[in-house]
Amino acid sequence: MRGGEIICLGIESTAHTFGVGIVDSSGAILANELDTYRPLSGGIHPREAAQHHATVAHTVLERALRHAGIGFENVDVVAFSYGPGLGPCLRTGATLGRALALKLVRPLVAVNHGVAHIEVGKLLTGFRDPVALYVAGGNTLVTTLHEGRYRVLGETLDIAAGNCLDAFGIKAGIGPMPEPENRARSGKRLYSMPINVKGMDVSFSGILTAAEKLVEGGVPVEDVALSVTEAVYAMLTEVLERAVALTMKREVLLVGGLARSRRLQEMVEEMVKIHGAEFKPIPDQYLGDNGAMIAWTGLKMYQHGQLTTIEQSIVKPKLRIDETEVLWH
Ligand code: FE2
Repeated sequence: MRGGEIICLGIESTAHTFGVGIVDSSGAILANELDTYRPLSGGIHPREAAQHHATVAHTVLERALRHAGIGFENVDVVAFSYGPGLGPCLRTGATLGRALALKLVRPLVAVNHGVAHIEVGKLLTGFRDPVALYVAGGNTLVTTLHEGRYRVLGETLDIAAGNCLDAFGIKAGIGPMPEPENRARSGKRLYSMPINVKGMDVSFSGILTAAEKLVEGGVPVEDVALSVTEAVYAMLTEVLERAVALTMKREVLLVGGLARSRRLQEMVEEMVKIHGAEFKPIPDQYLGDNGAMIAWTGLKMYQHGQLTTIEQSIVKPKLRIDETEVLWH
């Protein structure tokens, strides 16, 4: 505790990022430190990423405490992300979480990573009941709270939107996001793409294949990047629009690493206006994976008695967003 506020330390390690965040019960984010694994080539290698997390864990933890200006004795609750994510990465964060909870004799909370993205978004925007699009390298879904859970209104039927753009960038030799979006800015010609939207579900593998064919056929990479990003963002905006129309909710959130895209933000902003709803972008550092979102959600869960024992604190790589009861709404 400090100044009468409960303090929660949250650990994030689902994929590339190892993060430690510290928040207090007034909603103040006291620290949000992270270190990101960057593969030398290609996509993420789960064991290499986990090795990275294990190597940087102690320094990230120390930096977070120093930045928050607290010691271990001030930490009241320890939270960690238990899924969804890559098994080896999740286990590294969970191990640190358990060790800290045992050593400090503090309660442990297992946090759903997807729920945490949205909860920190609500904290930062002041939104109470938004429709959210969660878009990242490994996740694409449209969700909103209904009867105590974030329900999946729509999702990708194959690869995630971020994965589609990353894979295109890597195959085209320009590198993952944000490179495709950077190159798209100097694109001049739009090529037709296989848009695949079914209700509120989307499919991106056709776009990836089409983009690869265009690159192989000698089309300038800037034009392909423009065509791919426009198609992917248009599909995402379309499913989000359907969700807004269906739920008639007035607040719209974009969360996840791909939500940093200014072009996607622009399209969503325009769509939201038509529906008389409100969109507020979240600062970039809280859009990608981070420890603050785990700490904030862990604190809410702690306040509603949603604790885990060490024995039950098993990671769940395939955890779905609707598996967590939201008691704090
Ligand atoms: Fe994420």
